[in-house]
Amino acid sequence: MNCTGKINSTSKEEFYGIFLAKLRALLSSESDYLANTANTAAFIFDNILGINWAGFYIMKNGELVLGPFCGKVACTRININKGVCGYAARNKETVLVENVHNFEGHIACDSASNSEIVIPILDKNNNVLGVLDIDSPLFNRFDDIDKENLIKAVEVMKKHIDFNEFIK
Ligand code: SME
Repeated sequence: MNCTGKINSTSKEEFYGIFLAKLRALLSSESDYLANTANTAAFIFDNILGINWAGFYIMKNGELVLGPFCGKVACTRININKGVCGYAARNKETVLVENVHNFEGHIACDSASNSEIVIPILDKNNNVLGVLDIDSPLFNRFDDIDKENLIKAVEVMKKHIDFNEFIK
């Protein structure tokens, strides 16, 4: 499968079907966490329209530390009591924020961001390994279809990553 061509689709459901198949193909021949998180960030940034940041924060010593991403430079460390990323990591749940300006404690790395989705990455023992964070300059950019499929994207990624390499 060609992983680099643009995705042509007539519906959001069809888009995500192709998106997930291409992501699987992109990651399947590699297991290094840095290589596969880096390519996942680039793949998301390249294929999902209307976003200005896509990337990872990795849990290290109880703090979220900036990992591979695409977009403008971002804050390097997030306390798990702070921000949307901290909220998602603390509560081990996906957070969909329609308007970041209404989210108390939101950390504005790029002032252009107006909506955001953060998906926690959990290991099989339910420990938080990190989060996938995607920001958009559009209000209300992400809906339940995005949420459902981006959670699936994290599951695909987890199948192709050797989690022993994650530094905790
Ligand atoms: N907005 C995030 C911080 C990370 S940047 O958006 C890349 C937050 O509130 O946790």
